[in-house]
Amino acid sequence: MSTYAQELRATAQAMVAPGKGILAMDESRGTCDRRFEKLGIPTTEERRRTYRELILTTPDLAEFISGAILFDETIRQSTQAGVPFVQVMQEAGIIPGIKVDLGTKDLAGCEGEKVTEGLDGLGDRITEYYQMGARFAKWRGVITIGDGIPSETCLVANAHEIARYAALCQAGGLVPMVELEVLIDGEHSIERCYEVTERTFQILFEQLRLNRVEFDKMILKPSMVISGSNCPVQASVEQVAQMTVNCLRNNVPVAVAGIAFLSGGQSIEHATAHLNLIHAKFGAQCPWTITFSYARAIQQPALDYWHGDDANIPIAQQLLYHRAKLNGAASIGHYSSEME
Ligand code: 13P
Repeated sequence: MSTYAQELRATAQAMVAPGKGILAMDESRGTCDRRFEKLGIPTTEERRRTYRELILTTPDLAEFISGAILFDETIRQSTQAGVPFVQVMQEAGIIPGIKVDLGTKDLAGCEGEKVTEGLDGLGDRITEYYQMGARFAKWRGVITIGDGIPSETCLVANAHEIARYAALCQAGGLVPMVELEVLIDGEHSIERCYEVTERTFQILFEQLRLNRVEFDKMILKPSMVISGSNCPVQASVEQVAQMTVNCLRNNVPVAVAGIAFLSGGQSIEHATAHLNLIHAKFGAQCPWTITFSYARAIQQPALDYWHGDDANIPIAQQLLYHRAKLNGAASIGHYSSEME
Protein backbone atom coordinates (compact mmCIF):
# COMPACT_ATOMS: atom_id res chain seq x y z
CA MET A 1 0.00 0.00 0.00
CA SER A 2 1.24 3.50 -0.83
CA THR A 3 2.81 5.45 2.04
CA TYR A 4 0.48 8.24 0.94
CA ALA A 5 -2.66 6.06 1.25
CA GLN A 6 -4.65 8.32 3.53
CA GLU A 7 -3.72 11.51 1.73
CA LEU A 8 -4.52 9.99 -1.66
CA ARG A 9 -7.95 8.90 -0.51
CA ALA A 10 -8.69 12.33 0.97
CA THR A 11 -7.50 14.13 -2.17
CA ALA A 12 -9.56 11.88 -4.45
CA GLN A 13 -12.67 12.51 -2.37
CA ALA A 14 -12.08 16.27 -2.33
CA MET A 15 -11.71 16.26 -6.13
CA VAL A 16 -15.25 14.95 -6.51
CA ALA A 17 -16.86 16.87 -3.63
CA PRO A 18 -20.63 17.34 -4.17
CA GLY A 19 -21.50 20.20 -6.53
CA LYS A 20 -17.91 20.61 -7.71
CA GLY A 21 -15.80 19.36 -10.59
CA ILE A 22 -12.38 19.70 -12.10
CA LEU A 23 -11.27 22.37 -14.52
CA ALA A 24 -8.90 21.07 -17.19
CA MET A 25 -6.57 23.91 -18.22
CA ASP A 26 -3.62 21.73 -19.12
CA GLU A 27 -3.52 22.36 -22.85
CA SER A 28 0.02 21.74 -24.04
CA ARG A 29 1.84 24.71 -25.55
CA GLY A 30 0.92 23.46 -29.05
CA THR A 31 -2.78 23.00 -28.30
CA CYS A 32 -3.04 26.34 -26.48
CA ASP A 33 -1.29 28.10 -29.37
CA ARG A 34 -3.62 26.51 -31.92
CA ARG A 35 -6.63 27.83 -29.96
CA PHE A 36 -5.00 31.28 -29.72
CA GLU A 37 -4.17 31.32 -33.46
CA LYS A 38 -7.83 30.72 -34.35
CA LEU A 39 -8.65 33.97 -32.51
CA GLY A 40 -5.61 35.92 -33.70
CA ILE A 41 -4.06 36.00 -30.20
CA PRO A 42 -0.21 36.14 -30.21
CA THR A 43 1.22 32.71 -29.34
CA THR A 44 3.71 33.93 -26.73
CA GLU A 45 4.51 32.63 -23.25
CA GLU A 46 3.26 35.97 -21.87
CA ARG A 47 -0.18 35.62 -23.51
CA ARG A 48 -0.49 32.02 -22.28
CA ARG A 49 0.48 33.16 -18.77
CA THR A 50 -2.01 36.02 -18.81
CA TYR A 51 -4.79 33.71 -19.96
CA ARG A 52 -4.04 31.22 -17.20
CA GLU A 53 -3.94 34.08 -14.66
CA LEU A 54 -7.38 35.18 -15.91
CA ILE A 55 -8.70 31.67 -15.17
CA LEU A 56 -7.06 31.13 -11.79
CA THR A 57 -7.93 34.57 -10.39
CA THR A 58 -11.62 34.32 -11.34
CA PRO A 59 -13.46 35.40 -8.17
CA ASP A 60 -15.17 32.57 -6.25
CA LEU A 61 -14.28 29.90 -8.83
CA ALA A 62 -13.69 27.43 -5.98
CA GLU A 63 -17.45 27.38 -5.28
CA PHE A 64 -17.72 24.94 -8.21
CA ILE A 65 -14.15 23.93 -9.01
CA SER A 66 -12.39 21.50 -6.68
CA GLY A 67 -9.16 21.20 -8.62
CA ALA A 68 -7.51 22.40 -11.82
CA ILE A 69 -5.11 20.54 -14.10
CA LEU A 70 -2.07 22.55 -15.18
CA PHE A 71 0.51 22.07 -17.92
CA ASP A 72 4.22 21.94 -17.03
CA GLU A 73 4.78 25.51 -18.24
CA THR A 74 1.85 26.79 -16.17
CA ILE A 75 2.73 25.15 -12.85
CA ARG A 76 6.03 27.09 -12.96
CA GLN A 77 4.36 30.47 -13.66
CA SER A 78 3.17 33.28 -11.37
CA THR A 79 0.66 36.13 -11.52
CA GLN A 80 1.79 39.49 -12.85
CA ALA A 81 2.17 40.54 -9.20
CA GLY A 82 4.59 37.63 -8.66
CA VAL A 83 2.45 35.15 -6.73
CA PRO A 84 3.06 31.57 -7.93
CA PHE A 85 -0.05 30.06 -9.54
CA VAL A 86 0.16 27.08 -7.17
CA GLN A 87 -0.07 29.45 -4.20
CA VAL A 88 -3.03 31.29 -5.77
CA MET A 89 -4.80 27.94 -6.07
CA GLN A 90 -3.94 26.77 -2.56
CA GLU A 91 -5.24 30.04 -1.11
CA ALA A 92 -8.45 29.76 -3.14
CA GLY A 93 -8.99 26.14 -2.10
CA ILE A 94 -8.43 24.68 -5.58
CA ILE A 95 -6.27 21.54 -5.62
CA PRO A 96 -3.35 21.81 -8.08
CA GLY A 97 -3.12 19.00 -10.63
CA ILE A 98 -0.59 18.38 -13.37
CA LYS A 99 -0.65 16.79 -16.82
CA VAL A 100 2.32 14.42 -16.88
CA ASP A 101 2.03 12.70 -20.27
CA LEU A 102 4.08 14.08 -23.14
CA GLY A 103 1.47 13.78 -25.86
CA THR A 104 0.47 11.18 -28.44
CA LYS A 105 2.54 9.65 -31.24
CA ASP A 106 1.68 7.23 -34.06
CA LEU A 107 1.52 3.65 -32.80
CA ALA A 108 3.99 1.60 -34.85
CA GLY A 109 2.34 -1.14 -36.90
CA CYS A 110 -1.17 0.25 -36.32
CA GLU A 111 -2.12 2.74 -38.97
CA GLY A 112 -4.34 5.58 -37.79
CA GLU A 113 -3.83 4.78 -34.10
CA LYS A 114 -1.96 6.59 -31.34
CA VAL A 115 -0.02 5.81 -28.22
CA THR A 116 0.94 8.28 -25.49
CA GLU A 117 4.53 9.03 -24.46
CA GLY A 118 5.93 10.06 -21.09
CA LEU A 119 6.79 7.05 -18.89
CA ASP A 120 10.58 7.56 -19.02
CA GLY A 121 11.71 9.41 -15.89
CA LEU A 122 8.10 9.79 -14.75
CA GLY A 123 8.80 8.77 -11.13
CA ASP A 124 11.27 11.65 -10.74
CA ARG A 125 8.93 14.13 -12.38
CA ILE A 126 6.13 13.06 -10.03
CA THR A 127 8.41 13.71 -7.04
CA GLU A 128 9.21 17.17 -8.37
CA TYR A 129 5.55 18.03 -9.00
CA TYR A 130 4.55 16.80 -5.55
CA GLN A 131 7.19 19.07 -4.02
CA MET A 132 5.83 21.96 -6.09
CA GLY A 133 2.38 21.38 -4.55
CA ALA A 134 0.58 19.20 -7.08
CA ARG A 135 -1.71 16.58 -5.49
CA PHE A 136 -3.15 14.86 -8.55
CA ALA A 137 -2.09 14.10 -12.09
CA LYS A 138 -3.54 13.40 -15.49
CA TRP A 139 -2.47 11.17 -18.38
CA ARG A 140 -4.49 11.09 -21.59
CA GLY A 141 -4.58 8.26 -24.07
CA VAL A 142 -6.74 8.40 -27.19
CA ILE A 143 -8.72 5.67 -28.89
CA THR A 144 -9.87 6.33 -32.45
CA ILE A 145 -12.96 4.67 -33.93
CA GLY A 146 -12.73 3.93 -37.64
CA ASP A 147 -12.67 1.22 -40.26
CA GLY A 148 -11.35 -1.85 -38.41
CA ILE A 149 -10.06 0.21 -35.46
CA PRO A 150 -9.42 0.35 -32.59
CA SER A 151 -7.18 -2.71 -32.68
CA GLU A 152 -6.61 -4.81 -29.56
CA THR A 153 -2.94 -3.84 -29.94
CA CYS A 154 -3.82 -0.18 -29.49
CA LEU A 155 -6.16 -0.80 -26.56
CA VAL A 156 -3.62 -2.96 -24.71
CA ALA A 157 -0.69 -0.59 -25.39
CA ASN A 158 -2.63 2.41 -24.10
CA ALA A 159 -4.13 0.59 -21.11
CA HIS A 160 -0.77 -0.85 -20.08
CA GLU A 161 1.06 2.46 -20.09
CA ILE A 162 -1.72 4.35 -18.33
CA ALA A 163 -1.73 1.66 -15.63
CA ARG A 164 2.05 2.06 -15.20
CA TYR A 165 1.50 5.82 -14.91
CA ALA A 166 -1.26 5.35 -12.32
CA ALA A 167 0.87 3.04 -10.19
CA LEU A 168 3.79 5.51 -10.27
CA CYS A 169 1.46 8.36 -9.25
CA GLN A 170 0.09 6.46 -6.26
CA ALA A 171 3.63 5.58 -5.14
CA GLY A 172 4.60 9.28 -5.38
CA GLY A 173 1.60 10.87 -3.66
CA LEU A 174 -0.43 12.04 -6.66
CA VAL A 175 -3.99 10.84 -7.32
CA PRO A 176 -4.01 9.58 -10.90
CA MET A 177 -6.74 10.71 -13.26
CA VAL A 178 -7.01 7.88 -15.73
CA GLU A 179 -8.16 9.15 -19.11
CA LEU A 180 -8.52 6.88 -22.12
CA GLU A 181 -10.60 9.06 -24.40
CA VAL A 182 -12.70 7.38 -27.07
CA LEU A 183 -12.66 10.17 -29.64
CA ILE A 184 -15.93 11.66 -30.88
CA ASP A 185 -14.52 12.16 -34.41
CA GLY A 186 -16.07 9.96 -37.08
CA GLU A 187 -19.32 8.75 -38.57
CA HIS A 188 -19.88 5.90 -36.11
CA SER A 189 -23.16 5.32 -34.30
CA ILE A 190 -23.68 5.57 -30.54
CA GLU A 191 -23.96 1.75 -30.45
CA ARG A 192 -20.47 1.44 -31.95
CA CYS A 193 -19.19 3.97 -29.40
CA TYR A 194 -20.71 1.86 -26.61
CA GLU A 195 -18.98 -1.28 -27.91
CA VAL A 196 -15.57 0.41 -28.15
CA THR A 197 -15.90 2.19 -24.79
CA GLU A 198 -16.87 -1.11 -23.13
CA ARG A 199 -13.87 -2.96 -24.59
CA THR A 200 -11.62 -0.05 -23.58
CA PHE A 201 -12.85 -0.25 -19.96
CA GLN A 202 -12.41 -4.04 -19.86
CA ILE A 203 -8.79 -3.92 -20.97
CA LEU A 204 -8.09 -0.81 -18.90
CA PHE A 205 -9.26 -2.33 -15.61
CA GLU A 206 -7.46 -5.59 -16.35
CA GLN A 207 -4.22 -3.63 -16.72
CA LEU A 208 -4.90 -1.44 -13.69
CA ARG A 209 -5.36 -4.60 -11.58
CA LEU A 210 -2.25 -6.22 -13.03
CA ASN A 211 -0.24 -3.13 -12.12
CA ARG A 212 -1.67 -3.04 -8.58
CA VAL A 213 -3.40 0.30 -8.90
CA GLU A 214 -5.74 0.94 -5.96
CA PHE A 215 -9.15 1.91 -7.29
CA ASP A 216 -10.20 3.91 -4.23
CA LYS A 217 -7.27 6.28 -4.87
CA MET A 218 -7.85 7.07 -8.53
CA ILE A 219 -10.30 9.11 -10.58
CA LEU A 220 -11.57 7.74 -13.88
CA LYS A 221 -11.83 10.40 -16.60
CA PRO A 222 -13.89 8.83 -19.39
CA SER A 223 -15.58 10.13 -22.49
CA MET A 224 -19.35 9.75 -22.68
CA VAL A 225 -21.00 7.15 -24.89
CA ILE A 226 -22.12 9.38 -27.74
CA SER A 227 -22.71 9.45 -31.52
CA GLY A 228 -19.71 10.19 -33.74
CA SER A 229 -19.57 13.89 -34.62
CA ASN A 230 -20.27 13.10 -38.30
CA CYS A 231 -22.87 10.40 -37.70
CA PRO A 232 -26.05 11.32 -39.62
CA VAL A 233 -28.19 10.15 -36.69
CA GLN A 234 -27.37 12.00 -33.48
CA ALA A 235 -28.49 10.29 -30.27
CA SER A 236 -30.72 12.26 -27.88
CA VAL A 237 -29.52 13.63 -24.54
CA GLU A 238 -31.52 10.88 -22.85
CA GLN A 239 -29.87 8.13 -24.93
CA VAL A 240 -26.38 9.48 -24.22
CA ALA A 241 -27.09 9.61 -20.49
CA GLN A 242 -28.66 6.15 -20.40
CA MET A 243 -26.00 4.39 -22.49
CA THR A 244 -23.16 6.13 -20.67
CA VAL A 245 -24.53 5.01 -17.30
CA ASN A 246 -25.10 1.46 -18.59
CA CYS A 247 -21.55 1.25 -19.89
CA LEU A 248 -20.10 2.50 -16.60
CA ARG A 249 -22.28 0.18 -14.51
CA ASN A 250 -21.32 -2.86 -16.57
CA ASN A 251 -17.58 -2.19 -16.58
CA VAL A 252 -16.29 0.11 -13.84
CA PRO A 253 -15.52 -1.30 -10.37
CA VAL A 254 -17.58 0.19 -7.54
CA ALA A 255 -14.39 0.97 -5.60
CA VAL A 256 -13.24 3.68 -8.04
CA ALA A 257 -13.13 6.92 -5.99
CA GLY A 258 -14.87 9.07 -8.58
CA ILE A 259 -15.68 9.62 -12.22
CA ALA A 260 -15.05 12.97 -13.95
CA PHE A 261 -16.02 13.22 -17.62
CA LEU A 262 -14.10 15.05 -20.31
CA SER A 263 -16.17 17.11 -22.76
CA GLY A 264 -14.38 15.85 -25.87
CA GLY A 265 -15.68 18.36 -28.40
CA GLN A 266 -19.37 18.27 -27.40
CA SER A 267 -21.09 21.66 -27.51
CA ILE A 268 -20.94 23.44 -24.16
CA GLU A 269 -24.70 23.06 -23.69
CA HIS A 270 -24.64 19.35 -24.48
CA ALA A 271 -21.75 18.67 -22.12
CA THR A 272 -23.76 20.26 -19.30
CA ALA A 273 -27.12 18.72 -20.26
CA HIS A 274 -25.67 15.20 -20.53
CA LEU A 275 -24.00 15.39 -17.12
CA ASN A 276 -27.19 16.79 -15.62
CA LEU A 277 -29.42 14.03 -16.97
CA ILE A 278 -26.98 11.34 -15.85
CA HIS A 279 -27.70 12.59 -12.33
CA ALA A 280 -31.32 13.69 -12.61
CA LYS A 281 -32.53 10.47 -14.22
CA PHE A 282 -29.95 7.78 -13.49
CA GLY A 283 -28.10 9.05 -10.43
CA ALA A 284 -29.70 6.50 -8.12
CA GLN A 285 -28.22 3.69 -10.25
CA CYS A 286 -24.65 4.94 -9.86
CA PRO A 287 -22.46 3.93 -6.91
CA TRP A 288 -19.72 6.51 -7.66
CA THR A 289 -19.60 10.29 -7.40
CA ILE A 290 -19.83 11.53 -10.97
CA THR A 291 -18.77 15.00 -12.08
CA PHE A 292 -16.98 16.92 -14.84
CA SER A 293 -13.37 17.54 -15.78
CA TYR A 294 -13.99 19.79 -18.75
CA ALA A 295 -11.61 22.05 -20.65
CA ARG A 296 -13.36 23.41 -23.74
CA ALA A 297 -16.88 23.12 -22.29
CA ILE A 298 -15.90 25.46 -19.43
CA GLN A 299 -13.29 27.71 -20.99
CA GLN A 300 -14.54 28.41 -24.50
CA PRO A 301 -16.89 31.37 -23.85
CA ALA A 302 -14.24 33.05 -21.66
CA LEU A 303 -11.46 32.50 -24.19
CA ASP A 304 -13.62 33.80 -27.05
CA TYR A 305 -14.56 36.92 -25.10
CA TRP A 306 -11.04 37.67 -23.81
CA HIS A 307 -9.64 37.39 -27.32
CA GLY A 308 -6.22 38.41 -26.07
CA ASP A 309 -7.43 41.86 -24.95
CA ASP A 310 -6.89 42.42 -21.24
CA ALA A 311 -9.64 45.04 -21.06
CA ASN A 312 -12.00 42.07 -21.49
CA ILE A 313 -10.71 40.11 -18.49
CA PRO A 314 -13.46 40.97 -15.95
CA ILE A 315 -16.29 39.87 -18.26
CA ALA A 316 -14.34 36.83 -19.47
CA GLN A 317 -14.02 35.82 -15.81
CA GLN A 318 -17.78 36.21 -15.32
CA LEU A 319 -18.35 33.91 -18.31
CA LEU A 320 -15.96 31.33 -16.87
CA TYR A 321 -17.64 31.52 -13.46
CA HIS A 322 -21.06 31.10 -15.09
CA ARG A 323 -20.02 27.96 -17.01
CA ALA A 324 -18.43 26.50 -13.87
CA LYS A 325 -21.64 27.24 -11.95
CA LEU A 326 -23.86 25.54 -14.54
CA ASN A 327 -21.66 22.46 -14.59
CA GLY A 328 -21.53 22.46 -10.80
CA ALA A 329 -25.36 22.41 -10.84
CA ALA A 330 -25.34 19.63 -13.47
CA SER A 331 -23.03 17.55 -11.31
CA ILE A 332 -25.85 17.19 -8.80
CA GLY A 333 -28.72 17.14 -11.32
CA HIS A 334 -29.87 20.70 -10.58
CA TYR A 335 -29.23 22.29 -14.00
CA SER A 336 -31.97 23.50 -16.30
CA SER A 337 -31.61 25.17 -19.72
CA GLU A 338 -33.23 28.36 -18.35
CA MET A 339 -30.05 28.86 -16.33
CA GLU A 340 -28.20 29.42 -19.62
P1 13P B 1 -12.11 18.65 -23.10
O1 13P B 1 -13.11 18.78 -21.99
O2 13P B 1 -11.93 19.91 -23.90
O3 13P B 1 -12.32 17.44 -23.93
O4 13P B 1 -10.71 18.46 -22.40
C1 13P B 1 -10.61 17.62 -21.31
C2 13P B 1 -9.25 17.12 -21.24
O5 13P B 1 -8.61 17.24 -20.24
C3 13P B 1 -8.72 16.43 -22.43
O6 13P B 1 -7.56 15.78 -22.09
